[in-house]
Amino acid sequence: MPDDSLKKRENWGSRIGVILAVSGSAVGLGNFLRFPVQAAQNGGGAFMIPYFLAFLLLGIPLAWVEWTIGRYGGRHGHGSAPGIYHVLTGRKRWAKYLGITALLGPITIFFYYCYIEGWTLAYAFFSLTGEYNGISHPDQMSAFLSGFQGVETNSFFNGPWTAYSAFVVVFVVNFYFIYRGVTKGIEQLNKVALPIMFLIATVLLVRVFTLDSPYPDRPEQSFINGLGFMWNPDFTALKNPSVWLAAAGQMFFTLSVGMGSIMAYASYLRAKDDVTLSSLTANSTNEFFEVILAGSIVIPATFIFFGAMGTMEVAQGGSFNLGFVTMPLIFNQMQGGAFVGFLWFFLLFMAGVTSSVSLLQPMITFLEDELKWTRQQSVVAIGAVGFIVTNFIIFTLARGSLDELDFWAGTLFPVFNAFLAVTLFAWFFGVKKGFREFDMGADLRVPRFFKFILLIVTPLSLLAILVTWIIQQGIPVLTLENVDPENRVTVWITRFILVAVALAIVLLIRVARRRGRFVRREELR
Ligand code: ALA
Repeated sequence: MPDDSLKKRENWGSRIGVILAVSGSAVGLGNFLRFPVQAAQNGGGAFMIPYFLAFLLLGIPLAWVEWTIGRYGGRHGHGSAPGIYHVLTGRKRWAKYLGITALLGPITIFFYYCYIEGWTLAYAFFSLTGEYNGISHPDQMSAFLSGFQGVETNSFFNGPWTAYSAFVVVFVVNFYFIYRGVTKGIEQLNKVALPIMFLIATVLLVRVFTLDSPYPDRPEQSFINGLGFMWNPDFTALKNPSVWLAAAGQMFFTLSVGMGSIMAYASYLRAKDDVTLSSLTANSTNEFFEVILAGSIVIPATFIFFGAMGTMEVAQGGSFNLGFVTMPLIFNQMQGGAFVGFLWFFLLFMAGVTSSVSLLQPMITFLEDELKWTRQQSVVAIGAVGFIVTNFIIFTLARGSLDELDFWAGTLFPVFNAFLAVTLFAWFFGVKKGFREFDMGADLRVPRFFKFILLIVTPLSLLAILVTWIIQQGIPVLTLENVDPENRVTVWITRFILVAVALAIVLLIRVARRRGRFVRREELR
């Protein structure tokens, strides 16, 4: 067997381990910060209609596909997109190159995600030490955040060094778990982190549930009315296509589909391990955290303290504003706020780490599988590149580097990758063979009408989303329409970095090919 020279790959230690790992990848900052803002901005309860449709027609089937092709690839010695697409298409010459963005995407998200993760750790610490507890005005709390990020010079911080130190700690923590490997690192981390996250989120929910309006003359600012603000449907919102796009975008981000992470994790399954029920369980766990827990904490708490108008303003301000400005202001007005604040930011930190390790894994898997690097070599190489790129992001934050990377890696690539994965699975691998793979060791039989969904509905919906996005946002982004002229150089450097990393991946694929890793079908005979 010249290709796929099977060095023994790791396997998950237990079924609950892999389910928790994929759940941990899914439950992240997107659940607690992005979802409430998206729902409140896009029609409240009405948002849940496109959201659940996206769950049913995109999230669930795409996750099944990624788990299944991951396990299939792993069986042939390939756990990252280039190798998986190679075997999935019967070793077509071009297929491995279609996997480039499924490696570039997650690693790029990791570069900026771990920096934000550092903020959550620092703020957890600030909550306990009372660093921000004297601040009661939103402008001042925003200044505290900008000072912390080093974006603005003010009396709170001397440059970005506090945020920088937190980033270094978080960076090391991430690579520590990755270095320990799939079972001893990722699985152990998630087995401990997920139950703690559940516990903390429940405590926070109970705390918000028992909050009273701080203003005796405004009894309408209650938990129940806060839920009403979040969930009362505004059906007119459904006429707006951007609401549908927002729902689909949230689904990708929150489930980590199209990011290469699920494939990489699933490649460490054994050949007969169930994928269908495990995938559905991980997805449902994510939805429980997102809709039930996060949906009942953040917006209702904001409503109790700031009322309807205030909450509307907060939602318009975006996720970071909600998490790092509004929530600390709320904690400052709450009994036991220092501890509740610590719980909130520590929850975000845990949710962040369990997601970011999954963003690192696809590239590690690629280097180990295709170039036969040791884990140590892979960790050192990615750590070095990652450190340089994240430093660039940290020092150009105010100039738009993070936003630029988030558009490509966090918004566009996942949809593109998902489109490739489902098309290769349904049309090249073949939906019949694909369902046989679903059924192997399955504890849940995938309903057969999903054949139609996978062949037609999912690919076409993804194509429609891609085309609309490219027209609506892609062209203005490409032409730098909304970028301040003085930030344009930074945005171009950011793009240059993205292209350079992509070229490095092409080069590595070619090296692997020369070493006999992507042998074509005709060469096998
Ligand atoms: N799925 C991860 C999140 O929600 C990336 O943050």
